[in-house]
Amino acid sequence: MANFHLSLFLLLVLPILVSCTQKQVHIVYFGEHSGQKTVREIEESHHSYLFSVKETEEDARSSLVYSYKNSINGFAALLTPDEASKLSEMEEVVSVFPSRPGKYSLHTTRSWVFSGVQETMKLDDLKKDDLLLKSRYGKDVVVGMLDSGVWPESKSFNDEGMGPIPHSWKGICQSGDGFDSSNCNKKLIGARYYVKGYEAYYGPLNRTLDSLSPRDMDGHGTHTSSTAAGRRVKNVSSLGGFARGTASGGAPLARLAMYKVCWAVPGKGKEDGNTCFEEDMLAAIDDAISDGVNVLSISIGTSNPTPFNQDGIAIGALHAIKKNIVVACSAGNSGPAASTLSNPAPWIITVGASSVDRKFEAPVVLGNGMKIEGQTATPYSMEQKMYPLLYAAQVEIADAPQNISGQCLPGSLSPEKAKGKIILCMRGSGTRVGKGMEVKRAGGIGFILGNSKANGNELSADAHILPATAVGYDDALTILKYINSAKTPKAYIVPGKTVLETKPAPSMASFTSRGPSVISPDILKPDITAPGLNILAAWSEASSPTKLEADKRVVKYNILSGTSMSCPHIGGASALLKAMHPTWSSAAIRSALITSAGLNNNVGEMITDASGEPADPFQFGSGHFRPTKAADPGLVYDASYTDYLLYLCSGGAQNLDSSFKCPKNSPSPANLNYPSLAIPQLNGTATVKRTVTNVGSSKSIYFVSVKPPAGISVKVSPPILYFNRVGQKKSFTITVKANDEITDSIEKNKYEFGWYTWSDGVHNVRSPMAVSVA
Ligand SMILES: *[C@@H]1O[C@H](CO)[C@@H](O)[C@H](O)[C@H]1NC(C)=O
Ligand SMILES: *[C@@H]1O[C@H](CO)[C@@H](O)[C@H](O)[C@H]1NC(C)=O
Ligand SMILES: *[C@@H]1O[C@H](CO)[C@@H](O)[C@H](O)[C@H]1NC(C)=O
Ligand SMILES: *[C@@H]1O[C@H](CO)[C@@H](O)[C@H](O)[C@H]1NC(C)=O
Repeated sequence: MANFHLSLFLLLVLPILVSCTQKQVHIVYFGEHSGQKTVREIEESHHSYLFSVKETEEDARSSLVYSYKNSINGFAALLTPDEASKLSEMEEVVSVFPSRPGKYSLHTTRSWVFSGVQETMKLDDLKKDDLLLKSRYGKDVVVGMLDSGVWPESKSFNDEGMGPIPHSWKGICQSGDGFDSSNCNKKLIGARYYVKGYEAYYGPLNRTLDSLSPRDMDGHGTHTSSTAAGRRVKNVSSLGGFARGTASGGAPLARLAMYKVCWAVPGKGKEDGNTCFEEDMLAAIDDAISDGVNVLSISIGTSNPTPFNQDGIAIGALHAIKKNIVVACSAGNSGPAASTLSNPAPWIITVGASSVDRKFEAPVVLGNGMKIEGQTATPYSMEQKMYPLLYAAQVEIADAPQNISGQCLPGSLSPEKAKGKIILCMRGSGTRVGKGMEVKRAGGIGFILGNSKANGNELSADAHILPATAVGYDDALTILKYINSAKTPKAYIVPGKTVLETKPAPSMASFTSRGPSVISPDILKPDITAPGLNILAAWSEASSPTKLEADKRVVKYNILSGTSMSCPHIGGASALLKAMHPTWSSAAIRSALITSAGLNNNVGEMITDASGEPADPFQFGSGHFRPTKAADPGLVYDASYTDYLLYLCSGGAQNLDSSFKCPKNSPSPANLNYPSLAIPQLNGTATVKRTVTNVGSSKSIYFVSVKPPAGISVKVSPPILYFNRVGQKKSFTITVKANDEITDSIEKNKYEFGWYTWSDGVHNVRSPMAVSVA
């Protein structure tokens, strides 16, 4: 009842509050809970902090949004800037930061394309059943998802043949709109929702827009969950039969727990995505830790560089790591520009996105006989005869805004001019599927979606609501040129079909966010890449494949793109590794994934970016994930919770645990025992230390080999490591030096890349490095 009053109050007076006293939800973070405190004692302690800055007891009570009680010590409350600043001055307080609406969002590009998870596995060799068998398909590992909820009726979450829920599980199946305990089973063992932060900002959830329950009304959470840990489901496809095959999550026998933290935004269409508040995410992570999840997969982030002590996901993940929970997060979709990365914390696995070896071919044939490559996942096709072809700018209404000409934004096309035509629309603003909707509204018979320059030649195969295909930037220009030069331009679109084993693959998605990390340039990020372009997985039946309001189609499986899709691949792979190696730390599992990743595509060359140029570690980290190899990495670079705190000490005021005292002389941040190496602004020489733990055969000898970055010399010492037992640790140093004679020719602050590899003849333990010269 108290919550109801709080929310209602906010809904009515929030605009006034904002203008007068600017009350906003802030997170007040202390670090760890010390000693054995009861829930009541913790609440009282949080209350007394609040009371110390508030006028009345009642004000203090009513402004509290969350009190984090399990692992995370902190609370979220409505505070004025003044109150926040008073709290931040208190000694025990690590940080106080405002929760900003729209700061965090799900990492899906607005592309609703098709592809099959099973085919996806071709590249990453997850399908090799030996790994699945050895890990017993991830049996009894619990994968927790922070997302938009789950569609429990999906076949991907059936529990046929699964054993009893592990005794250690302490989670719940929270009831709400259209969801109760009967929706959980032995596959989906937990489901909760967190909405207080959202409601503190937007007022009570509009239950027509979203369900006040763990139920997924969007599709995103269902998609990511089934990618990480969905069951094997035979003969599924997208609308129109694209990508038909067996859908399967990475760890089909792992258990799943959904923590719904992302919600529909009032006044916005579903296709514009939803929003996630960090006070809600912190509450979810705090519960997930005490519920007993083993892996957390979080396809959520912010593209604004955020210091770790003000980054709710980073703070929550640090607590998870302390309990040895593996945390995988998406790198973001803000590429191709540099330094666009989210989730760069060194205790997180940061995942980029790349393509798979599949296309959905639907070429355009022009009136001059030219055939242009296109891709689609629309179930509709046109008669194979010539139709008039026009550029959107030629069929716009008279007063259409000039700065968005050619974009086919809602209401911009004239039905008189567009009727019966094929229309070329360019990407830029608006959603891709929305442009198709506009062409259909104006009576167009088909539509060609032309990439902008930034999209290059990376094609998104969407489930458009009319015959359509997508073409690359250069091809869009070719079509434009044809339209401008032909007397009566004509074209038709060939019906789409799924083509497998396309080459080269993978290539990096143009949207995948890039390093170097602004927050922690001394850590090489992202860590790894996994499939995130045109991925088929389960979908919510409350959402259409395009998420457009006017699209009434219902599908059980749908295609999406984004680092949101690649992250749960790493979540699923981590679950398999956890099942095989239950005692490994989260750092060891991450190390195994990073050092075993592949650099080459399926034609034996370096993975490229979307334009065909060789990609680099700021796009793919150490490369494309190879779970089978990660299961037996030979050596791992381990790191503990304390190691991360020490790393943070060297970053100045970034201590994230008030009970931890930084030593007088903090170690260099470069000495965090990370499986990759980044040295920004090298001035002369730098020497860093690393320690590897033998997890391969007891007696083994590893030799190092180095591919130095251009203009840099790299010396590893000692160059040979001798092991005579499993679990043995050996340390070595890496000395990096800018070559004197060519220092002048090296571009300042431009990163060059290389790697060093430890090999015993069986395992190749490869670490990428990025060095720039000051
Ligand atoms: C809730 O959302 C529906 C659908 O968008 C809308 O029609 C309705 O006006 C909204 N209700 C409120 C109270 O905002
Ligand atoms: C797969 O599903 C399609 C469409 O539902 C059906 O026509 C086809 O026979 C099925 N194939 C198999 C092998 O079951
Ligand atoms: C186009 O111009 C209008 C009015 O000047 C502006 O509000 C809008 O943001 C612009 N749109 C784009 C995509 O630049
Ligand atoms: C490099 O180090 C030298 C000696 O410590 C110092 O004088 C110089 O300013 C440094 N250069 C840069 C670019 O940091």
